[in-house]
Amino acid sequence: MKTLILYKSKYGSSKQYAQWLNSEINSDIFELDKCPDLSNYNLIILGGGSYFGKINGSDFISKNWNVLKTKKIILFSTSGAKPQDPLIKNLYEDSIPAEIRAYVRYFPLDGACAYERLTWTHKILSFIGSMFQSDPVKKNEMRQGFDRVKKENINPIVEYVKNIVFAD
Ligand SMILES: Cc1cc2nc3c(=O)[nH]c(=O)nc-3n(C[C@H](O)[C@H](O)[C@H](O)COP(=O)(O)O)c2cc1C
Repeated sequence: MKTLILYKSKYGSSKQYAQWLNSEINSDIFELDKCPDLSNYNLIILGGGSYFGKINGSDFISKNWNVLKTKKIILFSTSGAKPQDPLIKNLYEDSIPAEIRAYVRYFPLDGACAYERLTWTHKILSFIGSMFQSDPVKKNEMRQGFDRVKKENINPIVEYVKNIVFAD
């Protein structure tokens, strides 16, 4: 099984997970913008951060569906919303069209945000978002940042990939 890992990461969480996956799975790894010829791969793992309710880079799947439909696809997101948060369902459904979701295995992963590293635009938008956030913990995270990126979070993906390879 030839595996390609692609990531689109503004502040590094999705890149970190992609690199950890690459260290556990025999694969090639590229930034999404430098994606190589897909025809050489059977399994594509794509990951991106969540921004304004959509997974960064997720459009790549529908745009390249003609090629990707012949392959196994794993999508992971990193987000401020925790993987068990009901918002994750909306995030996924707003990122991937229904007819494609049936063929994608999706893993939501916990993200990170170092407030001081945000661009000014993102700082302002996060602050404005925090004014509409009623959950005090989430409000605080949007103003101060958070870090829930841990290597062990990739374990379910690694397990899943090992099972596909074994089944092949
Ligand atoms: C401007 C901005 C908007 C964000 N929007 C969302 C969002 O809609 N939903 C969410 O769960 N997390 C949101 N986040 C949190 C990011 O998804 C999280 O920090 C993620 O780990 C970033 O991944 P990356 O560094 O790989 O880009 C947002 C963060 C910023 C700075």
